[in-house]
Amino acid sequence: MKLPSSFDVIGSIAILSEKTKQPKKVARTLLKNFKNLETVVVKTGIHYGKYRLQKTKILAGKKSKTTIHKENNCTFKLNIDQTYFSQRLSNERLRISKLVKKGEEILIMFSGIAVYPITVSKLSPAKEIHAIEINPKAHKFAQENLELNKITNVKLFQGDVSKVIPKIKKKFDRIIMPLPRDAASYLDLAIKKLKPSGTIHFYDFQRLEDIPSKSIEKIRLLCKPQILRVVKVGQYSPKKFRVCIDFKVK
Ligand SMILES: C[S@@+](CC[C@H](N)C(=O)[O-])C[C@H]1O[C@@H](n2cnc3c(N)ncnc32)[C@H](O)[C@@H]1O
Repeated sequence: MKLPSSFDVIGSIAILSEKTKQPKKVARTLLKNFKNLETVVVKTGIHYGKYRLQKTKILAGKKSKTTIHKENNCTFKLNIDQTYFSQRLSNERLRISKLVKKGEEILIMFSGIAVYPITVSKLSPAKEIHAIEINPKAHKFAQENLELNKITNVKLFQGDVSKVIPKIKKKFDRIIMPLPRDAASYLDLAIKKLKPSGTIHFYDFQRLEDIPSKSIEKIRLLCKPQILRVVKVGQYSPKKFRVCIDFKVK
């Protein structure tokens, strides 16, 4: 039988696309051939709702959707249905970490299970990182992940960024906004919390022909940006790409 040419692997779980033919047969074959795999699931829909979750169905193997994933020398515990996580963004997390300079104070909005906070903490000379996540289950995994990675310079907050941020009485050198579907609604909040020479990493979804004009338009509605770079981070759907606009405010 023909195995799918690509599928996602998060920790010990393989995730098949909903288009996979003979999914149960493929699942059993994968388990037999890849000794690192314990469970094979199939996606049953696209990311949905405020928490950006994805539903999956177990096809074969261990009946658990919680796993430990390793990347960039970091360890992440997560449940693939209860929390957002994409291993396809590991290079992007690495890219951002490499930009961080010694002593930076960083704000990570929409921090999920703390993938960005932990990667940046481990791989950069940042001084302190504040991270905010609304999904209580993701927040719980984030707390566990800080311990797993022995991280001491990350402060986690559970709640809505629009309620939590006004209570944080400081400004930041760098603000990361990894919620492409809706980050624009929170840009004004981020701009207010940026130090004069600070940088914002603004994620957005756009069609190829609208990159970067439509994303920059959203920023220009609120400030005069100095665009540092435009990074196409990957394809989100057949017609849309995830893009990151790195900018300072003039
Ligand atoms: C696309 S996911 C990214 C998660 C994580 N940064 C990562 O890269 O794996 C966006 C996250 O933002 C959270 N979120 C959505 N709206 C929020 C809000 N208003 N305040 C705080 N977190 C929010 C969701 O629960 C979700 O975990």
